[in-house]
Amino acid sequence: MSDNMTISRLEGMKSRGEKISALTAYDYTFARLVDAAGADIVLVGDSLGMVFNGEENTLRVTVDDIAYHVKAVRKGIGRALLVADMPFLSCHLGMDKALESAGRLIFEGAEAVKIEGCDGLLEIIGKMLTAGIPVMGHIGLTPQSIHKFGGFKIQGRREEAARRLIDEALKLEQAGVFSIVLECVPEDLAARITEKLNIPTIGIGAGPACDGQILVTADLLGLQTEFKPKFVKKYADLASVVKKAVGSYIEEIKTGAFPDEQHCYQSSPKHLKAI
Ligand code: KIV
Repeated sequence: MSDNMTISRLEGMKSRGEKISALTAYDYTFARLVDAAGADIVLVGDSLGMVFNGEENTLRVTVDDIAYHVKAVRKGIGRALLVADMPFLSCHLGMDKALESAGRLIFEGAEAVKIEGCDGLLEIIGKMLTAGIPVMGHIGLTPQSIHKFGGFKIQGRREEAARRLIDEALKLEQAGVFSIVLECVPEDLAARITEKLNIPTIGIGAGPACDGQILVTADLLGLQTEFKPKFVKKYADLASVVKKAVGSYIEEIKTGAFPDEQHCYQSSPKHLKAI
């Protein structure tokens, strides 16, 4: 039997209390690395707008962008479940357009799509499921609604907002999503939501009670130095490693130490004499 991650395996993990690990990837090289390290889910997130493209937020990411990165990431994935983000507005311009976009991401190699929000999306989610496209939900701080929230702020701190989030989670489960990302919500609220659902919750800034965790790979590797949310744990300082290595390379070019004998090709002496 193949070891590949599937939606039913994720459900089994929740029922056994086994934690789910999820990470982002936007290219083949990192997809291979995170898959080989054992990630259960790899997300081609619209965070690529910020991490890959240097934008201030995720709002300028298009379906074409996600499709391009899914195609690259797909080639690097062996075991993980590959999920692709439906970017800003892609689910709000009519059913046909949403279905066509989700279908395109599946065509490029995603095995599921992730949709931010709940209101006005339940019917579209139903249609996607009917078309055979599994959907992951995403509630709490949904970065595509950044202007509505007025910034990257914790969601669900007050009673009414907490009730709304619980309600959204239940509605999404009812609509058939296979998992829900909870972003920037108080840990006790995330625990309550996790307990109420049969499907796994994947937290980012939502505390340890979630069934799994996701982080942006560049953040956990310390590649990204401008933006440091409280929920990010840095497992490495690759920015320093990269700067040091590139600095040495530049230095050796300047001093003539690179390329050396070991990194050069020799022509056959016979041929060279004949020229
Ligand atoms: O776009 C993204 O990377 C995400 C995760 C951080 C959950 O949505």
